[in-house]
Amino acid sequence: MKNRRAFFKASLAVTAGVVSGHSVLALAKEEPAKEKKATEVHTDTEKHTFPKSIFYTKDSGGKWGKKGGSHLPNVTVEGEKVTVTTKHGMSEKHYIVRHTVVSDAGEVLGEKTFSSSDDDAVSVFEIKGKHKRLHATSFCNKHDLWLTEFSIL
Ligand SMILES: [Fe+2]
Repeated sequence: MKNRRAFFKASLAVTAGVVSGHSVLALAKEEPAKEKKATEVHTDTEKHTFPKSIFYTKDSGGKWGKKGGSHLPNVTVEGEKVTVTTKHGMSEKHYIVRHTVVSDAGEVLGEKTFSSSDDDAVSVFEIKGKHKRLHATSFCNKHDLWLTEFSIL
C-alpha cells in the first residue's frame, strides 16, 4: 500500500510537471497544500459528490481496476492550448468515443467526438482565462468515462 501511494505521488508529480511545464523535481518535493504550484492535477475522488461508478479516476478505477493507464485523459497545457490525449487503441469494436473539457461549474468548454477509424484519441482546445479546476473526460465505448482534473492558472 505504501509503495502504491508513493507511486501515485510520483506519477502525480510527473503529470503536474508535464501540465505546468515546471521542473518535475521541484514539484516532487513535499509541500503544504496551500503552497502548491499554480498548476496542479487533482485526483482526489473524495471531493466529488457523484457516485464513484459514474466516472473513474487515476485513484479510483472502480470495476475497471487498473485500466486507467489506457483510459485516463492526459492533459498538457501550453498557454491557452489544451491538448487531451488518451493512450488507447482505436478499432471498430473498441475505441475512445469522446473527449470533453468541462469547467467546475459544469460548462462544456471543449468537446470532440471520435470515430473508430481515427488514428488516435487526441483533441486540442483553446481555453481562455484562468481556471482553478477543470475536468477533462475521455469516454471508451467499453470502459466508460474517465476523468482527469487540471488547472490553468
Ligand atoms: Fe477501453
